[in-house]
Amino acid sequence: KLPLLIDTDPGVDDALALLMAFDAPHHEVVALTIAAGNVGLKHTVANALKLCEVAEVDIPVFAGCDAPLLHAAPDASYVHGRDGFGDIAYPPAAKQAEAEHAAQAMIRLSHVHAGKLVVCMLGPLTNLAVALKLDPTLPERVGRMVVMGGAVTGQGNTTPMAEFNIGFDPEAAHIVFEAFAAAGKIVEVADWEAVIRHGFLHADVERWLQADHPRARFYEAISRRTREWSASLRGDHWHAADALAMAMLVAPEHIRERAVRPLRIELVGTESRGATVVDWNRRSGRADNADLLMSYDQAAFEALIRQALRAE
Ligand code: BDR
Ligand code: CA
Repeated sequence: KLPLLIDTDPGVDDALALLMAFDAPHHEVVALTIAAGNVGLKHTVANALKLCEVAEVDIPVFAGCDAPLLHAAPDASYVHGRDGFGDIAYPPAAKQAEAEHAAQAMIRLSHVHAGKLVVCMLGPLTNLAVALKLDPTLPERVGRMVVMGGAVTGQGNTTPMAEFNIGFDPEAAHIVFEAFAAAGKIVEVADWEAVIRHGFLHADVERWLQADHPRARFYEAISRRTREWSASLRGDHWHAADALAMAMLVAPEHIRERAVRPLRIELVGTESRGATVVDWNRRSGRADNADLLMSYDQAAFEALIRQALRAE
């Protein structure tokens, strides 16, 4: 199995992606590195530990950065709840996070699994940006890199043009995309607009969540608040951003259409800071550095989600 490091800010859809990863037939999750994002680090770490306990997996959890590189963290608790897991007041997990910092763990594991390590980024890119500043040779040792982030035609979900994970820490995203580009490594991207094209009916999701299994019960509880919020905002369809990136990672055979293009992060601009600028018509002369998910088999995506929830 290929070693998989997941950087995440759980986060309700992060939780679904993690459950999917724990089942992956060709990958073994070797570490969860935790970022601030959906909520602060204290909560995202506690949520990751709790999810591992619910899923009965023993995976080391490494706490990372508690804020973006430059500016103050925006408040996103209106999406996932004040604690990031729907404020259900779950009893904390018995296990603690490791002492090593997430960025240091990334560097160490890139040496342990040199050439093979698969990295999946499900939150802001802060931890990886710090790791790259500590060790710029890191991308050379990464076998595959998948990011949930961006809005590739500029239809953001946080500001008009920025998607949350990139908009939360644009400098970190810039550092990461430029470092992988410099190493000649293509970054696979599941962006927000792809997520919107791969929704499910709330009525179906609610049926899956009735499954009699601890995974489904826990997910039903933590997602209740965000399901209500998203139904009020986006109508009949439910979306699981991080789960789509994980589906692309664990089962790439179901990818139907990709687009490989140059991608850069916008750092300035009165309206466009945090945008992922894709050079669709190849005007810049830059080399391609991003492999964008355009379409994924919807039935296969559904099967992966239902399997993750044990809602067969
Ligand atoms: C991303 O932002 C977060 O709210 C989700 O967990 C996902 O990673 C979607 O824009
Ligand atoms: Ca996330």
